[in-house]
Amino acid sequence: MPENMAKDRPSRPPKLHHTTFTTLRMSEMVAWYGLVCGLQPVFQSNEASWLTNDEANHRIALLSPPGLKHPTDKSHETGIHHTAFEFDTFDMWLNNYIRLRDKGVLPFLKLDHGITMSIYYQDPDGNGVEIQVDGFGDWADSKEWISSAKEFAENPIGTFFEPEKLVEARDAGLSFKEIHERTRAGEYLPDVIPENIFLPEVW
Ligand SMILES: [Fe+2]
Repeated sequence: MPENMAKDRPSRPPKLHHTTFTTLRMSEMVAWYGLVCGLQPVFQSNEASWLTNDEANHRIALLSPPGLKHPTDKSHETGIHHTAFEFDTFDMWLNNYIRLRDKGVLPFLKLDHGITMSIYYQDPDGNGVEIQVDGFGDWADSKEWISSAKEFAENPIGTFFEPEKLVEARDAGLSFKEIHERTRAGEYLPDVIPENIFLPEVW
């Protein structure tokens, strides 16, 4: 049981709804979130935009107020590391990787966390965006696993992988379960293992 579990909390907690970023690259950001995550603007201007890719009125908002400055050392500053979007199936997730790769959009980090298989991109401002698929195909199962698995406690960051090797494995007929297990076992490691998970500096 995590030690900081709140005893005093809302009896019916609110749901996570959206994240808002400030930006000096409004049109570029709107286009990028459309390309990578299918977010479409429900309202767009140079000063503020609201985007969604589901039934919610927005999931990402972008604000560009006067006087906004670039970060000075974003990679090493506290704050949001990434937001995450989840595909329902392994095939949808891997096909999205291929679609983006073919357009020259490549991830900076690829990790199998056990609970999810995750590919991390950077938006034009350098914010992380994780595109994931549930490692168990079921939130209840992955929630149970993250809470109790010794394997996760010993290695919460996960195992790096090279997505091209996953594409090859799927082409060879391996199932999602087999590919996930082999990825966790380190069979699809990249040639170079990243030294850290800091966001690459883009400013
Ligand atoms: Fe994440």
